[in-house]
Amino acid sequence: MIVQPISSKRGVLMGTIYAVANQKGGVGKSTTVVNLAAYLGSVGKKVLCIDLDAQGNTTTSFGIKKKTLTVTTYDVLIGQRRIQDAMIETEYKGVTVVPATSSLVGGDIDLVELEDRARRLQSQLLTCRIGFDYIFIDCPPSLSLLTLNGFVAADYVIVPMKCEPLSLEGLAQLWETVRHVKQRYNPKLDIKGVLFTMFDPRLNLTLHIVNEVKKHFPNRVFETTIPRNVRISEAPSFGKPVMYYDAGSKGAEAYEKLGRELLGDKAPPVLNKRKKFGR
Ligand SMILES: Nc1ncnc2c1ncn2[C@@H]1O[C@H](COP(=O)(O)OP(=O)(O)OP(=O)(O)O)[C@@H](O)[C@H]1O
Ligand SMILES: [Mg+2]
Repeated sequence: MIVQPISSKRGVLMGTIYAVANQKGGVGKSTTVVNLAAYLGSVGKKVLCIDLDAQGNTTTSFGIKKKTLTVTTYDVLIGQRRIQDAMIETEYKGVTVVPATSSLVGGDIDLVELEDRARRLQSQLLTCRIGFDYIFIDCPPSLSLLTLNGFVAADYVIVPMKCEPLSLEGLAQLWETVRHVKQRYNPKLDIKGVLFTMFDPRLNLTLHIVNEVKKHFPNRVFETTIPRNVRISEAPSFGKPVMYYDAGSKGAEAYEKLGRELLGDKAPPVLNKRKKFGR
């Protein structure tokens, strides 16, 4: 796909880049990338999702078959291919994906050998940032060289987090890493917000952790929370974002709310149009 610069009323679009990261596994990073991108695409935004995880969950959650892929994030990072060559337009409005497969497993090791190893993704994104409103990077569950590439390329970090006992320690470590990247590589990097996922306000522990996070990181917590919702967990097996799998579900509603929060509440609600997305 050739990416053409898109004119907007303000001039040429320069997409905002969000790295979605948490070194802890299974906290909802890929789920957030997929569903936030789907919502923003549905309201007319042009969205690029970059799968930076060898598990390829963002890739398959959009219904992309890994076996059919010839160019992936790995080739882009290593410098064998241009990012434009890896882009796949999904069947969902406004959403393009740079996919990943298990070829990325050795990505960290191969990157170590390369010059400018922390800036490989950043330099590729410079060539396609114009033309997208939003770019989301799905980071792997580690503070590895791949995640570093995500942080160096990004404007902001979104941190999905489950309210579990050790989550706070992990958050402090992530914060430290962001500070380090900011000082050393990317002065404009900032945390956009912590997003509580699989949220259950009935648990005392949940409220305790929310209060602690708000205390330590004021103004860095999304107002929207994502509830635990079975439709969210079912949708990836059908290769669909939740709003296209079950438009009326609590999960679809929550990710719409998050999308509106990110847009600054300027987006028209799609709730009334939901039926057309549903099964
Ligand atoms: N709000 C939710 N309600 C129910 N299930 C959820 C929710 N969010 C995510 N899940 C499920 O939890 C699991 C982990 O989510 P996901 O893959 O998004 O996490 P991750 O942080 O990207 O994981 P990894 O660190 O392995 O990349 C998946 O099976 C997903 O479908
Ligand atoms: Mg993931």
